[in-house]
Amino acid sequence: MKKIVVVHGPNLNLLGKREPHIYGTRSLDDLNTAVRDKASKLGVEVTTFQSNHEGEIIDFLQKEGPGSAGIIINPGAFSHYSLAIYDCLLALAVPVVEVHLSNIHAREEFRSKSVTARAARGVITGLGFAGYDLALEYLVTQ
Ligand code: DQA
Repeated sequence: MKKIVVVHGPNLNLLGKREPHIYGTRSLDDLNTAVRDKASKLGVEVTTFQSNHEGEIIDFLQKEGPGSAGIIINPGAFSHYSLAIYDCLLALAVPVVEVHLSNIHAREEFRSKSVTARAARGVITGLGFAGYDLALEYLVTQ
């Protein structure tokens, strides 16, 4: 069975409590449940991971990325400046989809630039939880 890795960056553990007018009222557990449901419908396995620490995200990606069928990552604020996560995604020769819950182009100017997105096949931004479903649908075809 294909395995897809799903990584949630800093502060996404606060989903549901954090700026609910932007990120919604559902929790990270709700998101992971929705991702697992979609994955089982598509017949793929998912491994989910959240960390507030750049190095932990890199360690996880280096361990779980190789051999996976793809990576879905919401790097949170690391999107805007983490060249280390960008380099890590480049090093893993697997397709990457970057997802943002909010529309990063409709917010503060600093959010509209993602350095990690250059390592991704594509970016889905602003569609909330649905972005993860769409990313899974794409990755199962790769
Ligand atoms: C986010 C957007 C980022 O700018 C922000 O730092 C986040 C969440 C999103 O999902 O919309 O933590 O990646």
